[in-house]
Amino acid sequence: MATRKLFLLPGDGIGPESMAEVRKIITYLNEEKGLGFETDEGLVGGSAYDAHGQAISEGDMEKALAADAVLFGAVGGPKWDSVPYEVRPEAGLLRLRKDLALFANLRPAICYPALADASSLRPEVVEGLDILIVRELTGGVYFGEPKEIIDLGNGQKRGIDTQVYETYEIERIAGVAFELARTRGNKVTSMEKRNVMKSGVLWNEVVTATHKAQYADVQLEHMLADAGGMQLVRWPKQFDVIVTDNLFGDMLSDVAAMLTGSLGMLPSASLGAPDATTGKRKALYEPVHGSAPDIAGQGIANPIAMIASFAMCLRYSFNLIEEADRLEAAIAAVLDDGIRTGDIWSEGSKKVGTVEMGDAILAKFKALSA
Ligand code: IPM
Ligand code: MG
Repeated sequence: MATRKLFLLPGDGIGPESMAEVRKIITYLNEEKGLGFETDEGLVGGSAYDAHGQAISEGDMEKALAADAVLFGAVGGPKWDSVPYEVRPEAGLLRLRKDLALFANLRPAICYPALADASSLRPEVVEGLDILIVRELTGGVYFGEPKEIIDLGNGQKRGIDTQVYETYEIERIAGVAFELARTRGNKVTSMEKRNVMKSGVLWNEVVTATHKAQYADVQLEHMLADAGGMQLVRWPKQFDVIVTDNLFGDMLSDVAAMLTGSLGMLPSASLGAPDATTGKRKALYEPVHGSAPDIAGQGIANPIAMIASFAMCLRYSFNLIEEADRLEAAIAAVLDDGIRTGDIWSEGSKKVGTVEMGDAILAKFKALSA
């Protein structure tokens, strides 16, 4: 039987509570379905800093590199606000993305029918929403050099970040977006700021050329990223797949997430290139939401984004499509039953905590898998 190696990095804040609910699902899949997941666990973010003075230890980096997939919770919190920049909690996540070369970040924004009312937009604007943001994750201003603060010696300083993209980086992320569009609504909207940024001009050119050369069957549209943000809140259902750079993708995916009612709902997958011999991609799965230190440890966090991230892991890393479909269906069914954590609660529905939500999803998942 194949062993499936998972490396769990619960992290800080609500990360560990959410991960605990995924662990129950893994245990069930091993004990009842014989899927042979082997799990190991490490520290990342503030918890790693407290233990090792680093945002992730070398040992845990090695384990992440050796795993079939990494499940990541969340990092950060006020406790670590003043640690040195190089070892701030987020540095652990950025190092994982960079060293595992996870250039493609898939962020679906799906509005569960039962939650159309939880959105700040009118239900008819978000009902049935199903868009996929494909965010470039290892380039752009997040990693460009120089990245520094220079003392100008006259009482002034200069802060510099560098936005930089090369052709191959744009080609490969565009390729991922076009391939995925073919499995969905067959439309890609590319977003950049070619009206002010040279990297945006190149982005636009390369996406257009990639489309022409290999994906002319897919509908392609270009939008300036600011207008794209506006269109996302005006009429989000016009979009199918959105492809954009690292920084715009960070911002636009938070906007898209909130359309669906709660940041607590959305999963993400970060994928590398297929290995030349095995065809396997390195992968990390994480909720789009952060560590929510304000509610950490109270047992009220919404574990759905973490559980849905595991569903993406089943789908993309292990090709367990039926199991992934069933886990996603279990989430939708629990929401249909009116079971809600506080962030998505509304009058008339049943308010539950993290553990009860996890248990309810597991029970539905078991029923659907019977
Ligand atoms: C995200 C987060 C991260 C990012 C932070 C935690 C570094 O906001 O995954 O969207 O900016 O990429
Ligand atoms: Mg973000």
